[in-house]
Amino acid sequence: MKTLLFFCIFLYLLGVLCAVYKQWIPNTNFENASNWDQGRVPCANDVILFRSSEVVSVFVQSSYSLTDMYIPLNGEFIMASGAGFAASDGSYDPGCETASQVTFSSAENSQWHDPTLWHAATSLENLDEGKYIFSIDEERVPCQYDDVIFQPKTSFRVNIELPEQTIRLRSISIMGQKFTSDNSLAEYMQSHSAKLQFHGQGAFQLSTTRCPDKSGCECGNAAGHDRICAALLQNSGNHCPGAMCKDPLKPVGHCCEICGATISLDYSAGFDIELYRNRILHTFLSLPKNAGIQMAMSKVHELQTFLGIMPRSSASFIQIVLIDNRTGSQIGTHAEQLAKEIMEDIAVHGVSFGIVTSNLQAATGSKWSAQEASGQAGGTIAGTVVGLLLVLLLLGIVLLLYRKGTLRSLSPVHFASLWNRKRDLDPSGETVDKGFDNPMFDTPSDPVALAGMCSAEETPNEVASKNSELYYINPLYDETELSA
Ligand SMILES: *[C@@H]1O[C@H](CO)[C@@H](O)[C@H](O)[C@H]1NC(C)=O
Repeated sequence: MKTLLFFCIFLYLLGVLCAVYKQWIPNTNFENASNWDQGRVPCANDVILFRSSEVVSVFVQSSYSLTDMYIPLNGEFIMASGAGFAASDGSYDPGCETASQVTFSSAENSQWHDPTLWHAATSLENLDEGKYIFSIDEERVPCQYDDVIFQPKTSFRVNIELPEQTIRLRSISIMGQKFTSDNSLAEYMQSHSAKLQFHGQGAFQLSTTRCPDKSGCECGNAAGHDRICAALLQNSGNHCPGAMCKDPLKPVGHCCEICGATISLDYSAGFDIELYRNRILHTFLSLPKNAGIQMAMSKVHELQTFLGIMPRSSASFIQIVLIDNRTGSQIGTHAEQLAKEIMEDIAVHGVSFGIVTSNLQAATGSKWSAQEASGQAGGTIAGTVVGLLLVLLLLGIVLLLYRKGTLRSLSPVHFASLWNRKRDLDPSGETVDKGFDNPMFDTPSDPVALAGMCSAEETPNEVASKNSELYYINPLYDETELSA
């Protein structure tokens, strides 16, 4: 029993520890062809020009021979070991016959709150492998419990000017150095490099903890919504591309209307957002037939107005956004279908996850009006009864096995076989088997699904072992065990 209790607590902690990493995309590296007006890195016969007013930090990876270089008045070169500049001896440089003037493109316009300049992933590994997560626009910019990463061996320049707003984060890594305390970061921000990397009046505040609420934490970027959307749409004349469906949806925290489906959930005290996210990933999104669908799930807060005048804030809720890759009259239909399956699943299992009510909205290219449906986490009573029966049954079996001496070897992995045995042992368990599927047992391990799943920390081994253990979560069991 002790092992089991420990295991439940472990899973509980795992849920709370869930992380999101956000990585800044642009860089001011010398070797990056897109940082030069000619679209190529300068070669030996070129004249290299940094505008004198350019304020910039430039990372140089290797060594170059040059003919001529104009450097800025206020800037720095960060040389990798072995990198350098040398005067060209005029020897033949293949591919560099025509000498020209190559100018460094200004990095002045990169804004911190531009959602297109960040990649987001649930682990450092996923970041490296390009397994990015889909999220609403507000959450594409770093949230208050996110870890922010400026890649090692890259220079950058970012405008953090956000009046009336400090930028809240969990941690920030700059050129391989990770800052987790306000003091050390404040010290770094006084350095010459930092002043070239960050400009504008903004300030950082580090929380050092992950989201402490297992039902999830709001991102905290709602106050910057207009700014975020303006940055997102700056290259399209501040206009959203028209959504190709009738009555498109406008998810909370998103800039433009979408075709697809949204589900809003009201939750009770027992709701665990990571547990439920994993439920959706394993049971639905990992299936090959759902490959073209992307999901964002987060806690949001809609600012409502009372009688259209007085602002009145509403309680927060869980928003699930589903979009698909279909086009034309089929756009959104796949997302809608999945949303309906999720609603059915909520009707049966919603209560055990702490879901109180659910509301589905869909907009597709094939319908002339948006579909709407809601549920009171249907089957509430049936679900609870089945849940109780199951717990009693399980306790009985545990007792039985304990007497037989089997339980001494109980460990998280054996718990799985224990579960199977329960099914075998119970010939009269018809109702139980029909009424309750262990949410985590439904689908086999799928690396694609795991890619989107949260992992507590970045070590590959750790991630792997935690992933495999996640299959044994039983939300009903969890709660009863903890309170028993
Ligand atoms: C080059 O710089 C651009 C803009 O800063 C950035 O989007 C791109 O990812 C960089 N490419 C590489 C290979 O670093």
